[in-house]
Amino acid sequence: MTDRVPYLTSRLQGFGTTIFAEMSALASRTGAVNLGQGFPDYEGPPEVLDAAVAAIRDGHNQYPPGRGVPALREAIARHQQRFWGLAYDPDTEILVTAGATEAIAAACLALCEPGDEVVVLEPTYDSYQASIAMAGARPVFVRLEPPGYRLDAAALAAAVTPRTRLLLINSPHNPTGTVLDRDELAAVADVAVEHDLVVVTDEVYEHLVFDGAEHVPLAALPGMRDRTVTISSGGKTFNTTGWKIGWVCAPPALVTAVTTAKQFLTYVNGGPFQPAIAAGLGLPDAYFRDLAAGLATQRDLLCAGLESAGFGVFRPQGTYFVTVDIRPLRADGDGMAFCRELPERCGVVAVPNQVFYADPATGRHLVRFSFAKRPAVLEEAVARLGKLVP
Ligand SMILES: Cc1ncc(COP(=O)(O)O)c(C=O)c1O
Repeated sequence: MTDRVPYLTSRLQGFGTTIFAEMSALASRTGAVNLGQGFPDYEGPPEVLDAAVAAIRDGHNQYPPGRGVPALREAIARHQQRFWGLAYDPDTEILVTAGATEAIAAACLALCEPGDEVVVLEPTYDSYQASIAMAGARPVFVRLEPPGYRLDAAALAAAVTPRTRLLLINSPHNPTGTVLDRDELAAVADVAVEHDLVVVTDEVYEHLVFDGAEHVPLAALPGMRDRTVTISSGGKTFNTTGWKIGWVCAPPALVTAVTTAKQFLTYVNGGPFQPAIAAGLGLPDAYFRDLAAGLATQRDLLCAGLESAGFGVFRPQGTYFVTVDIRPLRADGDGMAFCRELPERCGVVAVPNQVFYADPATGRHLVRFSFAKRPAVLEEAVARLGKLVP
């Protein structure tokens, strides 16, 4: 926990400035290669960029409809059918949001009573805990343990209590890069069905999966279509993280509930970006294949460099991120100190994984690097990290 912040409500104490802001500021101050925050340093497909420019020029600059422009909702429905075989009605079962982040916040605010429990995977993407806290609910953690970072079905079942309101799942998982397999997803489904729970699933990395691993949407499992709130966004799929176009796919009653909260958070956002993301979702299969193949190459490059620098590398199956154990390079295993020193020592920025754990001691020796960078930038980072070898 950080120091008490004046004026800030007790619900939000401890959620001070994020480590990403601190580390990105450190990167720009020192000129270090920023492998901390997860955003690509390359542009999205020209079709998508051109569609945004055209939308601005064509006057799509006022409030879009509350649930999103029809062209985007229809494109999301076609995408869910084409890639995952899931049918959603664009009018009643799809909601466009200000990124996945708003969708998660709106889902927690809409679906949780104060005092409810939300079961989440740990390490936990940072906005989840804040969203749960803003809803007055409480996280209950199910830990993915290194080296495999797999989901323990018994631990998941044991986390459910009479107060459990939601399961909040994330696959492909940030920061570990785990892609939950069919058995793990079946374990989630079993628990959800047995306890009649709604599941919120964050699938923003749905297209960033490597080595023949398969992304299976939770909603595709038997019994899950009608109890799952699927969240994704265009940021990672089209290299447009600054556009913040996300979405929710769920049965009508759940979409209506989430919309009720969402409409008073932002109401709407990104008018001209919505048709542009619609254009992206309609790109040919080759676009999505090439995106994953490019990232897999970048992952290989960075993982090889981290291995030769001496880190213990947990090779990810998906996402933008690789987690390493720093203890071979720093015996005290202090990841926070390591990340604060790294720009001075070798001109690279990373993020300490302790920020993804309720008890920072659990992730103290772990550090996350992003490989969503051009190969030349990763090669430079690897060369710099090579200087750490004693
Ligand atoms: C697991 C996860 N969910 C959600 C987000 C945020 O998505 P968006 O930018 O669409 O709000 C991120 C971004 O890093 C993420 O890693």
